[in-house]
Amino acid sequence: MSVIPAPEGDVLRRQDREVADLLLGELDRQATTLQLIAAENFTSPAVLAALGSPLANKYAEGYPSARHHGGCEIVDAAERLAVERAKTLFGAEHANVQPHSGSSAVLAAYAALLRPGDTVLALGLPYGGHLTHGSPANFSGRWFDFVGYGVDAESGLIDHQQVRTLARSHRPKAIVCGSIAYPRHMDYPFFRAVADEVGAYLIADAAHPIGLVAGGAAPNPVPYADVVCATTHKVLRGPRGGMVLCGAELAERVDRAVFPFTQGGAQMHTIAAKAVGFGEAATPAFGAYAHQVVANARVLAARLGAEGLAVTTGGTDTHMITADPAPLGVDGRTARGRLAAAGIVLDCCALPHTDDRGLRLGTAAVTTQGMGQGEMEWIAVLFGKVLRGEVDGARAREDVRELTGRFPPYPG
Ligand SMILES: Cc1ncc(COP(=O)(O)O)c(C=O)c1O
Repeated sequence: MSVIPAPEGDVLRRQDREVADLLLGELDRQATTLQLIAAENFTSPAVLAALGSPLANKYAEGYPSARHHGGCEIVDAAERLAVERAKTLFGAEHANVQPHSGSSAVLAAYAALLRPGDTVLALGLPYGGHLTHGSPANFSGRWFDFVGYGVDAESGLIDHQQVRTLARSHRPKAIVCGSIAYPRHMDYPFFRAVADEVGAYLIADAAHPIGLVAGGAAPNPVPYADVVCATTHKVLRGPRGGMVLCGAELAERVDRAVFPFTQGGAQMHTIAAKAVGFGEAATPAFGAYAHQVVANARVLAARLGAEGLAVTTGGTDTHMITADPAPLGVDGRTARGRLAAAGIVLDCCALPHTDDRGLRLGTAAVTTQGMGQGEMEWIAVLFGKVLRGEVDGARAREDVRELTGRFPPYPG
Protein backbone atom coordinates (compact mmCIF):
# COMPACT_ATOMS: atom_id res chain seq x y z
CA MET A 1 0.00 0.00 0.00
CA SER A 2 1.44 3.35 -1.02
CA VAL A 3 1.53 5.67 2.01
CA ILE A 4 3.42 8.68 0.77
CA PRO A 5 2.21 9.48 -2.75
CA ALA A 6 4.89 8.45 -5.21
CA PRO A 7 5.65 11.09 -7.81
CA GLU A 8 4.47 8.82 -10.64
CA GLY A 9 1.72 6.28 -10.94
CA ASP A 10 0.00 7.14 -7.65
CA VAL A 11 -3.75 6.70 -7.69
CA LEU A 12 -4.47 10.11 -6.19
CA ARG A 13 -2.11 11.81 -8.58
CA ARG A 14 -3.78 10.17 -11.56
CA GLN A 15 -7.26 11.11 -10.38
CA ASP A 16 -6.78 14.50 -8.71
CA ARG A 17 -3.55 16.22 -9.50
CA GLU A 18 -4.53 19.35 -7.61
CA VAL A 19 -4.87 17.56 -4.27
CA ALA A 20 -1.88 15.28 -4.94
CA ASP A 21 0.26 18.34 -5.55
CA LEU A 22 -0.86 19.78 -2.21
CA LEU A 23 0.07 16.56 -0.38
CA LEU A 24 3.45 16.41 -2.04
CA GLY A 25 4.00 20.09 -1.38
CA GLU A 26 3.30 19.57 2.31
CA LEU A 27 5.58 16.54 2.40
CA ASP A 28 8.32 18.66 0.85
CA ARG A 29 7.70 21.48 3.36
CA GLN A 30 7.89 19.06 6.29
CA ALA A 31 11.03 17.41 4.92
CA THR A 32 12.99 20.56 4.06
CA THR A 33 12.21 22.81 7.03
CA LEU A 34 12.85 22.20 10.73
CA GLN A 35 9.69 21.10 12.56
CA LEU A 36 10.12 22.53 16.05
CA ILE A 37 6.42 22.95 16.86
CA ALA A 38 6.21 21.29 20.29
CA ALA A 39 2.93 19.51 19.49
CA GLU A 40 4.06 17.96 16.19
CA ASN A 41 5.85 14.80 15.17
CA PHE A 42 6.27 12.44 12.20
CA THR A 43 4.00 9.41 12.46
CA SER A 44 5.38 6.19 11.04
CA PRO A 45 4.43 4.89 7.58
CA ALA A 46 2.54 2.10 9.41
CA VAL A 47 0.39 4.66 11.27
CA LEU A 48 -0.24 6.51 8.00
CA ALA A 49 -1.20 3.23 6.34
CA ALA A 50 -3.84 2.51 8.98
CA LEU A 51 -5.17 6.07 8.62
CA GLY A 52 -5.50 5.64 4.88
CA SER A 53 -7.14 2.20 5.15
CA PRO A 54 -10.68 1.01 4.33
CA LEU A 55 -11.54 1.26 8.04
CA ALA A 56 -12.24 4.89 7.14
CA ASN A 57 -15.42 3.61 5.46
CA LYS A 58 -16.92 1.98 8.53
CA TYR A 59 -19.63 3.41 10.74
CA ALA A 60 -19.30 2.16 14.30
CA GLU A 61 -21.36 4.07 16.85
CA GLY A 62 -21.10 2.56 20.32
CA TYR A 63 -18.49 0.19 21.70
CA PRO A 64 -17.20 -3.29 20.74
CA SER A 65 -20.02 -5.86 20.91
CA ALA A 66 -22.53 -3.03 21.52
CA ARG A 67 -22.70 -1.14 18.23
CA HIS A 68 -25.58 0.59 16.56
CA HIS A 69 -24.41 -0.70 13.17
CA GLY A 70 -23.89 -4.10 11.56
CA GLY A 71 -20.64 -5.40 10.17
CA CYS A 72 -18.50 -4.23 13.06
CA GLU A 73 -16.72 -7.55 13.81
CA ILE A 74 -13.38 -6.43 12.41
CA VAL A 75 -13.41 -2.87 13.72
CA ASP A 76 -14.47 -4.22 17.12
CA ALA A 77 -11.26 -6.25 17.14
CA ALA A 78 -9.27 -3.14 16.16
CA GLU A 79 -10.79 -1.10 18.98
CA ARG A 80 -10.25 -3.89 21.54
CA LEU A 81 -6.62 -4.06 20.45
CA ALA A 82 -6.16 -0.30 20.81
CA VAL A 83 -7.82 -0.33 24.24
CA GLU A 84 -5.75 -3.27 25.52
CA ARG A 85 -2.52 -1.75 24.23
CA ALA A 86 -3.30 1.63 25.82
CA LYS A 87 -4.16 0.00 29.16
CA THR A 88 -0.93 -1.99 29.16
CA LEU A 89 1.20 0.93 28.01
CA PHE A 90 0.02 3.30 30.73
CA GLY A 91 -0.99 0.83 33.46
CA ALA A 92 -4.61 1.99 33.36
CA GLU A 93 -7.62 -0.09 34.34
CA HIS A 94 -9.69 1.48 31.59
CA ALA A 95 -9.00 3.27 28.31
CA ASN A 96 -11.38 4.99 25.93
CA VAL A 97 -9.66 5.48 22.57
CA GLN A 98 -12.55 7.14 20.74
CA PRO A 99 -12.06 10.88 21.41
CA HIS A 100 -11.48 12.61 18.10
CA SER A 101 -8.96 15.03 19.62
CA GLY A 102 -7.33 16.14 22.85
CA SER A 103 -10.07 18.72 23.31
CA SER A 104 -12.75 16.05 22.87
CA ALA A 105 -11.01 13.98 25.54
CA VAL A 106 -11.09 16.91 27.99
CA LEU A 107 -14.72 17.62 27.13
CA ALA A 108 -15.55 13.98 27.89
CA ALA A 109 -13.67 14.10 31.20
CA TYR A 110 -15.66 17.16 32.27
CA ALA A 111 -18.89 15.58 31.05
CA ALA A 112 -18.14 12.45 33.08
CA LEU A 113 -17.34 14.23 36.34
CA LEU A 114 -18.97 17.69 36.36
CA ARG A 115 -22.21 19.54 35.96
CA PRO A 116 -22.51 22.97 34.31
CA GLY A 117 -21.66 25.69 36.81
CA ASP A 118 -19.21 23.56 38.82
CA THR A 119 -15.98 25.19 39.95
CA VAL A 120 -12.75 23.90 38.40
CA LEU A 121 -9.19 24.86 39.37
CA ALA A 122 -6.72 24.81 36.48
CA LEU A 123 -3.54 26.48 35.28
CA GLY A 124 -4.61 29.93 34.06
CA LEU A 125 -4.36 30.57 30.33
CA PRO A 126 -1.70 33.33 30.68
CA TYR A 127 0.50 30.75 32.44
CA GLY A 128 0.13 27.92 29.93
CA GLY A 129 -3.37 26.55 30.44
CA HIS A 130 -5.09 25.13 27.34
CA LEU A 131 -8.26 26.62 25.81
CA THR A 132 -10.19 23.74 27.43
CA HIS A 133 -8.97 24.88 30.84
CA GLY A 134 -11.42 27.76 31.09
CA SER A 135 -11.02 30.05 28.09
CA PRO A 136 -14.12 32.22 27.65
CA ALA A 137 -13.86 31.41 23.92
CA ASN A 138 -14.21 27.68 24.69
CA PHE A 139 -17.05 25.53 26.07
CA SER A 140 -15.05 25.12 29.27
CA GLY A 141 -15.09 28.81 30.16
CA ARG A 142 -18.76 29.11 29.20
CA TRP A 143 -20.07 26.11 31.13
CA PHE A 144 -17.86 25.95 34.19
CA ASP A 145 -16.59 28.39 36.77
CA PHE A 146 -12.81 28.24 36.30
CA VAL A 147 -10.33 29.52 38.85
CA GLY A 148 -6.77 29.87 37.57
CA TYR A 149 -3.55 29.13 39.41
CA GLY A 150 -0.27 30.46 38.08
CA VAL A 151 3.48 30.16 38.07
CA ASP A 152 6.00 31.93 40.26
CA ALA A 153 7.18 35.19 38.67
CA GLU A 154 10.84 34.47 39.46
CA SER A 155 11.28 30.75 38.88
CA GLY A 156 8.51 30.19 36.33
CA LEU A 157 7.55 27.06 38.31
CA ILE A 158 3.97 26.26 39.30
CA ASP A 159 3.09 28.10 42.49
CA HIS A 160 2.11 25.11 44.62
CA GLN A 161 1.27 27.25 47.61
CA GLN A 162 -1.22 29.19 45.50
CA VAL A 163 -2.75 25.94 44.21
CA ARG A 164 -3.34 24.80 47.79
CA THR A 165 -4.70 28.17 48.92
CA LEU A 166 -7.08 28.48 45.95
CA ALA A 167 -8.26 24.90 46.40
CA ARG A 168 -9.03 25.54 50.08
CA SER A 169 -10.90 28.78 49.42
CA HIS A 170 -12.84 27.76 46.26
CA ARG A 171 -13.45 24.05 47.05
CA PRO A 172 -13.45 23.08 43.32
CA LYS A 173 -15.24 20.00 42.08
CA ALA A 174 -12.18 19.19 39.96
CA ILE A 175 -8.54 20.22 39.72
CA VAL A 176 -6.85 20.08 36.33
CA CYS A 177 -3.09 19.70 35.97
CA GLY A 178 -1.71 19.96 32.48
CA SER A 179 -0.42 22.64 30.16
CA ILE A 180 0.39 23.61 26.61
CA ALA A 181 3.61 25.37 27.55
CA TYR A 182 4.94 24.20 30.93
CA PRO A 183 8.34 22.58 30.27
CA ARG A 184 8.69 20.87 33.64
CA HIS A 185 7.13 17.69 35.07
CA MET A 186 3.84 18.10 36.91
CA ASP A 187 3.99 17.08 40.56
CA TYR A 188 1.13 14.57 40.40
CA PRO A 189 1.43 13.38 44.05
CA PHE A 190 1.10 17.01 45.17
CA PHE A 191 -2.02 17.61 43.04
CA ARG A 192 -3.50 14.31 44.30
CA ALA A 193 -2.93 15.37 47.91
CA VAL A 194 -4.60 18.77 47.36
CA ALA A 195 -7.53 17.19 45.52
CA ASP A 196 -8.01 14.71 48.36
CA GLU A 197 -7.83 17.48 50.96
CA VAL A 198 -10.67 19.45 49.34
CA GLY A 199 -12.66 16.49 47.99
CA ALA A 200 -12.04 17.31 44.30
CA TYR A 201 -11.52 15.04 41.33
CA LEU A 202 -8.05 15.23 39.81
CA ILE A 203 -7.95 15.46 36.01
CA ALA A 204 -4.49 15.22 34.43
CA ASP A 205 -4.46 16.70 30.94
CA ALA A 206 -1.30 14.98 29.80
CA ALA A 207 -1.70 15.82 26.11
CA HIS A 208 1.93 16.88 25.86
CA PRO A 209 3.92 14.53 28.10
CA ILE A 210 1.98 11.30 27.49
CA GLY A 211 4.46 10.14 24.82
CA LEU A 212 7.31 10.64 27.27
CA VAL A 213 5.29 8.66 29.83
CA ALA A 214 4.95 5.82 27.31
CA GLY A 215 8.71 5.81 26.83
CA GLY A 216 9.50 5.97 30.55
CA ALA A 217 10.94 9.48 30.28
CA ALA A 218 8.30 11.33 32.38
CA PRO A 219 6.22 10.49 35.47
CA ASN A 220 2.96 8.65 34.85
CA PRO A 221 -0.19 10.51 36.00
CA VAL A 222 -2.34 7.36 35.86
CA PRO A 223 -1.71 6.22 39.47
CA TYR A 224 -2.63 9.69 40.79
CA ALA A 225 -5.38 11.20 38.63
CA ASP A 226 -9.03 10.12 38.59
CA VAL A 227 -9.05 10.75 34.86
CA VAL A 228 -6.16 11.26 32.46
CA CYS A 229 -6.85 12.99 29.13
CA ALA A 230 -4.31 12.88 26.36
CA THR A 231 -3.64 13.28 22.68
CA THR A 232 -2.28 10.40 20.64
CA HIS A 233 -0.23 12.62 18.34
CA LYS A 234 2.55 14.88 19.74
CA VAL A 235 5.47 12.98 21.32
CA LEU A 236 3.42 9.74 21.37
CA ARG A 237 3.69 9.78 17.57
CA GLY A 238 0.37 8.12 16.82
CA PRO A 239 -2.41 9.56 14.68
CA ARG A 240 -4.07 12.90 15.44
CA GLY A 241 -6.63 12.07 18.16
CA GLY A 242 -7.39 11.77 21.85
CA MET A 243 -7.92 9.20 24.60
CA VAL A 244 -9.13 9.02 28.18
CA LEU A 245 -7.63 6.75 30.84
CA CYS A 246 -9.25 6.07 34.21
CA GLY A 247 -9.90 3.52 36.94
CA ALA A 248 -12.53 0.79 36.60
CA GLU A 249 -15.03 2.66 38.82
CA LEU A 250 -15.26 5.60 36.38
CA ALA A 251 -15.12 3.49 33.20
CA GLU A 252 -18.84 3.50 32.48
CA ARG A 253 -19.21 7.24 33.14
CA VAL A 254 -16.28 8.05 30.89
CA ASP A 255 -17.53 5.80 28.10
CA ARG A 256 -20.99 7.35 28.20
CA ALA A 257 -19.44 10.82 28.28
CA VAL A 258 -17.55 10.08 25.04
CA PHE A 259 -20.43 8.30 23.28
CA PRO A 260 -23.28 9.21 23.10
CA PHE A 261 -22.86 12.40 25.16
CA THR A 262 -20.16 14.29 23.27
CA GLN A 263 -19.45 12.29 20.11
CA GLY A 264 -21.13 10.18 17.44
CA GLY A 265 -19.54 7.42 15.39
CA ALA A 266 -15.98 6.47 16.24
CA GLN A 267 -13.33 6.98 13.56
CA MET A 268 -12.22 3.39 13.15
CA HIS A 269 -9.29 4.09 10.82
CA THR A 270 -7.89 6.46 13.47
CA ILE A 271 -8.51 3.91 16.22
CA ALA A 272 -6.62 1.27 14.21
CA ALA A 273 -3.82 3.82 13.74
CA LYS A 274 -3.86 4.47 17.50
CA ALA A 275 -3.38 0.71 18.03
CA VAL A 276 -0.36 0.82 15.69
CA GLY A 277 1.04 3.86 17.52
CA PHE A 278 0.58 2.22 20.94
CA GLY A 279 2.30 -0.91 19.61
CA GLU A 280 5.26 1.16 18.46
CA ALA A 281 5.35 3.09 21.75
CA ALA A 282 5.66 -0.19 23.70
CA THR A 283 8.99 -1.06 22.08
CA PRO A 284 12.46 -0.49 23.59
CA ALA A 285 13.24 1.66 20.54
CA PHE A 286 10.49 4.07 21.56
CA GLY A 287 11.87 4.23 25.11
CA ALA A 288 15.25 5.21 23.67
CA TYR A 289 13.51 7.76 21.45
CA ALA A 290 11.62 9.36 24.38
CA HIS A 291 14.84 9.72 26.40
CA GLN A 292 16.63 11.18 23.37
CA VAL A 293 13.78 13.70 22.93
CA VAL A 294 14.42 14.97 26.47
CA ALA A 295 18.23 14.90 26.10
CA ASN A 296 17.90 16.91 22.89
CA ALA A 297 15.53 19.41 24.50
CA ARG A 298 17.91 19.90 27.44
CA VAL A 299 20.84 20.62 25.12
CA LEU A 300 18.75 22.90 22.92
CA ALA A 301 17.48 24.83 25.97
CA ALA A 302 20.99 25.25 27.38
CA ARG A 303 22.41 26.39 24.05
CA LEU A 304 19.54 28.80 23.39
CA GLY A 305 20.30 30.25 26.82
CA ALA A 306 23.95 30.56 25.81
CA GLU A 307 22.81 32.43 22.68
CA GLY A 308 21.10 34.95 24.92
CA LEU A 309 17.45 33.89 24.94
CA ALA A 310 15.76 33.89 28.35
CA VAL A 311 14.68 30.25 28.76
CA THR A 312 11.61 29.94 31.00
CA THR A 313 12.28 27.99 34.23
CA GLY A 314 15.95 27.89 33.19
CA GLY A 315 15.57 24.69 31.16
CA THR A 316 13.27 21.73 30.60
CA ASP A 317 12.37 18.24 31.87
CA THR A 318 10.44 17.37 28.74
CA HIS A 319 10.39 17.82 24.96
CA MET A 320 9.30 21.43 25.31
CA ILE A 321 11.12 24.74 25.68
CA THR A 322 9.64 28.20 26.10
CA ALA A 323 11.87 31.23 25.81
CA ASP A 324 11.81 35.00 25.53
CA PRO A 325 13.90 36.34 22.62
CA ALA A 326 13.69 39.93 23.95
CA PRO A 327 17.33 39.99 25.19
CA LEU A 328 18.32 39.67 21.52
CA GLY A 329 16.26 42.77 20.69
CA VAL A 330 13.29 41.02 19.06
CA ASP A 331 9.80 40.25 20.29
CA GLY A 332 8.26 36.78 19.96
CA ARG A 333 6.21 37.46 16.83
CA THR A 334 9.12 39.06 14.96
CA ALA A 335 11.37 36.20 16.04
CA ARG A 336 8.91 33.59 14.80
CA GLY A 337 8.69 35.37 11.43
CA ARG A 338 12.47 35.62 11.00
CA LEU A 339 12.95 31.99 11.98
CA ALA A 340 10.17 30.89 9.61
CA ALA A 341 11.91 32.67 6.75
CA ALA A 342 14.99 30.61 7.58
CA GLY A 343 12.92 27.39 7.55
CA ILE A 344 12.75 27.02 11.34
CA VAL A 345 9.08 26.42 12.19
CA LEU A 346 7.84 27.01 15.73
CA ASP A 347 5.11 28.74 17.74
CA CYS A 348 4.67 31.85 19.83
CA CYS A 349 3.32 31.48 23.37
CA ALA A 350 2.22 33.58 26.30
CA LEU A 351 5.01 34.62 28.65
CA PRO A 352 3.83 34.46 32.27
CA HIS A 353 3.66 37.78 34.11
CA THR A 354 4.22 39.87 30.97
CA ASP A 355 2.12 41.04 28.02
CA ASP A 356 4.87 39.90 25.65
CA ARG A 357 4.85 36.82 23.48
CA GLY A 358 7.62 34.26 23.72
CA LEU A 359 8.67 31.27 21.62
CA ARG A 360 7.57 27.68 22.21
CA LEU A 361 9.43 24.82 20.61
CA GLY A 362 9.95 21.10 21.02
CA THR A 363 12.24 18.28 19.93
CA ALA A 364 9.78 15.44 19.19
CA ALA A 365 9.87 15.71 15.39
CA VAL A 366 13.57 16.42 14.88
CA THR A 367 14.41 13.49 17.19
CA THR A 368 12.20 11.18 15.13
CA GLN A 369 14.29 12.29 12.14
CA GLY A 370 17.38 11.02 13.97
CA MET A 371 18.90 14.32 15.03
CA GLY A 372 20.93 14.33 18.24
CA GLN A 373 22.68 16.73 20.59
CA GLY A 374 25.16 17.89 17.94
CA GLU A 375 22.33 19.00 15.67
CA MET A 376 20.61 20.74 18.60
CA GLU A 377 23.74 22.80 19.20
CA TRP A 378 23.90 23.64 15.51
CA ILE A 379 20.23 24.71 15.50
CA ALA A 380 20.73 26.93 18.57
CA VAL A 381 23.69 28.71 16.99
CA LEU A 382 21.67 29.35 13.81
CA PHE A 383 18.78 30.60 15.98
CA GLY A 384 21.06 33.17 17.56
CA LYS A 385 22.49 34.32 14.23
CA VAL A 386 19.03 34.64 12.64
CA LEU A 387 17.57 36.55 15.57
CA ARG A 388 20.56 38.89 15.81
CA GLY A 389 20.37 39.46 12.05
CA GLU A 390 23.90 38.12 11.55
CA VAL A 391 22.98 35.81 8.71
CA ASP A 392 21.06 36.45 5.54
CA GLY A 393 17.62 34.71 5.59
CA ALA A 394 18.21 32.95 2.27
CA ARG A 395 21.62 31.68 3.45
CA ALA A 396 20.09 30.35 6.69
CA ARG A 397 17.32 28.69 4.66
CA GLU A 398 19.93 26.88 2.57
CA ASP A 399 21.75 25.73 5.72
CA VAL A 400 18.48 24.35 7.11
CA ARG A 401 17.78 22.60 3.81
CA GLU A 402 21.21 21.01 3.93
CA LEU A 403 20.68 19.79 7.53
CA THR A 404 17.19 18.40 6.93
CA GLY A 405 18.41 16.73 3.73
CA ARG A 406 20.62 14.53 5.91
CA PHE A 407 17.66 13.49 8.13
CA PRO A 408 14.69 12.67 5.85
CA PRO A 409 11.55 11.99 7.90
CA TYR A 410 10.39 9.34 5.40
CA PRO A 411 13.53 7.90 3.84
CA GLY A 412 13.26 5.92 0.64
C1 LIG B 1 -2.78 20.42 27.42
C2 LIG B 1 -3.58 20.24 26.17
N1 LIG B 1 -4.86 19.88 26.26
C3 LIG B 1 -5.62 19.68 25.17
C4 LIG B 1 -5.11 19.89 23.91
C5 LIG B 1 -6.03 19.76 22.74
O1 LIG B 1 -5.68 18.83 21.78
P1 LIG B 1 -6.34 18.92 20.32
O2 LIG B 1 -5.66 20.02 19.60
O3 LIG B 1 -6.10 17.56 19.75
O4 LIG B 1 -7.80 19.21 20.52
C6 LIG B 1 -3.78 20.29 23.76
C7 LIG B 1 -3.21 20.52 22.42
O5 LIG B 1 -2.16 21.07 22.23
C8 LIG B 1 -2.99 20.46 24.91
O6 LIG B 1 -1.71 20.83 24.84
